[in-house]
Amino acid sequence: MGYKQADRERGVVIWFTGLSGSGKTTIAHEVEDALYRDGVPIEVLDGDVVRENLSKGLGFSKEDRDINIRRIAFVAHLLQRNGVFVITAAISPYRAIREEARAMIKDFVEVYADAPIEVCEQRDVKGLYAKARSGELKGFTGIDDPYEPPSNPEVVCRTAEETVEQSAAKVLDKLVELGYLVQD
Ligand code: ADX
Repeated sequence: MGYKQADRERGVVIWFTGLSGSGKTTIAHEVEDALYRDGVPIEVLDGDVVRENLSKGLGFSKEDRDINIRRIAFVAHLLQRNGVFVITAAISPYRAIREEARAMIKDFVEVYADAPIEVCEQRDVKGLYAKARSGELKGFTGIDDPYEPPSNPEVVCRTAEETVEQSAAKVLDKLVELGYLVQD
């Protein structure tokens, strides 16, 4: 069984938010693979990739993070309004700017990659938590910089308890429920 885009004209932005190491990118690519396989037009805007390109030179102050998120939202919206499914995977730690993106884009599905900081820190995929703890890296999200969890996300993926496949299935199910995808 696969998925089909419900309406070729109707794209959606699947907006991941969560701490570094919470699993945003991993789930994003799992969802991407499923949709790509079924021929749904899909693009991923990953935080780390965007910061190498579109947002090169930006830092991690609140101002720079807000600029980064506005850029991601802008590009995501351009694609979405042309019928593309767009997955964004940036920490996007500030609630207000995520709400700004939601208000602009409208076809917006927020996915909270929810993992306890202890788990993210233990994973420490990039070794940045260790640097943040030692003080070598200042202003790291969740350590000495804020993370504001979403108050009403469409999907919550508890990545310390679920498999990647289960988390991705939750996202795909929600897209069916909201009428962006149909199962065939
Ligand atoms: S956001 O806050 O602007 O949404 P974004 O997702 O683009 O962040 O980038 C986060 C990535 O940048 C992290 O996964 C990590 O690899 C790296 N990084 C470097 N410095 C920091 C920091 N101070 N806080 C968070 N992430 C950082």
